[in-house]
Amino acid sequence: MTKAFYVTTPIYYANSEPHVGTAYTSIVADVLARYHRLRGEEVFFLTGTDEHGQKIFRAAKELGLTPKALADQLCPKFKELTPTLSLTNDHFIRTTDPAHEHAVKTLFSRLIASGDVYKGPYKGWYCTGCERYVDAPPGAKPACDLHGAVDWLEEENYFFRLSRYQERILAHFKANPGFVEPSSRYNEVLNRIKGGLEDVSVSRSSFDWGVPLPGDEKHVIWVWFDALINYISGVGFPDDPERFQRHWPADVHLVGKDIVWFHSVIWPCMLIAAGIEPPRKVFAHGWWTIDGKKISKSEGNVVLPRDVTSKYGIDPLRYFLLRELPFGNDGDFSLAALARRYNADLGNDLGNLVNRVLTLVEKHFSGVVPEQGAYEPVDDALRATFVALTPRYEETLGRYEFNLALEEIWKAVRHANAYVDQTKPWVLAKDPATRGRLGTVLGALCEGLRELSCLLAPFLPNVSEGIRKQIGAEGPVRLPEGLAWGLLPAGTRIAKGAPLFPRLDTP
Ligand code: MSP
Repeated sequence: MTKAFYVTTPIYYANSEPHVGTAYTSIVADVLARYHRLRGEEVFFLTGTDEHGQKIFRAAKELGLTPKALADQLCPKFKELTPTLSLTNDHFIRTTDPAHEHAVKTLFSRLIASGDVYKGPYKGWYCTGCERYVDAPPGAKPACDLHGAVDWLEEENYFFRLSRYQERILAHFKANPGFVEPSSRYNEVLNRIKGGLEDVSVSRSSFDWGVPLPGDEKHVIWVWFDALINYISGVGFPDDPERFQRHWPADVHLVGKDIVWFHSVIWPCMLIAAGIEPPRKVFAHGWWTIDGKKISKSEGNVVLPRDVTSKYGIDPLRYFLLRELPFGNDGDFSLAALARRYNADLGNDLGNLVNRVLTLVEKHFSGVVPEQGAYEPVDDALRATFVALTPRYEETLGRYEFNLALEEIWKAVRHANAYVDQTKPWVLAKDPATRGRLGTVLGALCEGLRELSCLLAPFLPNVSEGIRKQIGAEGPVRLPEGLAWGLLPAGTRIAKGAPLFPRLDTP
């Protein structure tokens, strides 16, 4: 049985609307999912909402709603991201789905059976905003960096024996140097593991919004323990072992840097304890900030994806988020920076190229891709840029260097524009003796556009489709086969359409 490529996003808390920061992970997951699908692989891309826990419970109470009613109101906003951002998730999971709750109870029961869960008193601090226990020396009152004040908890809880897995998880890290990326995060987590693992409280009894704990229904299972299990319940655990086997282990969990510990230590230890393989990779990205402050509901600085896409379009938002910074780093989000990239990279570089080439083909070859003759050095150089691009594209994507992959593509876009300036088709068109040469130049440019449509397909799916329609490219994009030079046949009828990136009225 061949294994599917399985990529996940975190499941988002259903207590507020998604913003561009949370949409980021979903876009990256979509790029990976599309890339692997275009390579002919079976892919499963999972996203969803995290609906239990004290955070949702409190938010609902403040609004005079039940937690389920709040989640029911907000979940559609996350589902709407699929059309708003052209996502291709294969499933959308909710932690209130009965199948998920069943999976949580099953896994928890396994850990009870293996002696990995015990009951004891918990005394300590808790950040409801992060849904996490906060360490502090005795007598000190800590604060959360993100959410400020924390709550004091004194409860009889169930604990997961995380400490028992210290050696196992250390060995897993040592054997898999790419388990957590970027490597700075790997080292951070590894050092923390070396500092010692303490058992974690995995139940709550002071409120009742969660999955009831098997055998002691006065408790609900801690929201993180519940939420992490979505990654296996979403692919058939425990009732569809064949589906589960085809997908698990996940190839990559994409997460923000704030939740890397849960994903790279607690989650793998839960799985190891239950006799299930850990995921293959956890990739932690940075935060989008505005004037240096993390975009978040608590900062009150959220930018809604649909407000950006309605003005700039879907693909320009995707382009900006992937091109602006290395995946893994923090970066400032600004509409001015987005508008700059829209005008420069998209409008001037790519949009103009498409427009120029198609206008020339319409004008001089009645809208039909011309026959190409023998190449001159200038044509060879253009082809060489595209040929050299293929391995760079594959390498950078394989390393999650999305910004570099786009930079490489833009080198080719710029080269194609420079080629138009060098070959001067408008001069060639004046002399019937250079008609053959004009055909070669425009044919090579159409071929370049076809290649660009393939290279851009994972990132800018709508633009890629737009280019393909306009140049008359047939059939779906296939990678890497579509990156061979010379696949657009002479005689193909083009259909010049509206500009791909209309001018913005205001910056
Ligand atoms: N529900 C948990 C995840 C459970 S996964 C089993 C959670 N939810 S969240 O809605 O608070 O955050 C979801 C993801 O969005 C996290 O990876 C977080 O890092 C990311 N982001 C939230 N704000 C962000 C930015 N401003 N920038 C980039 N990512 C951001 O945590």
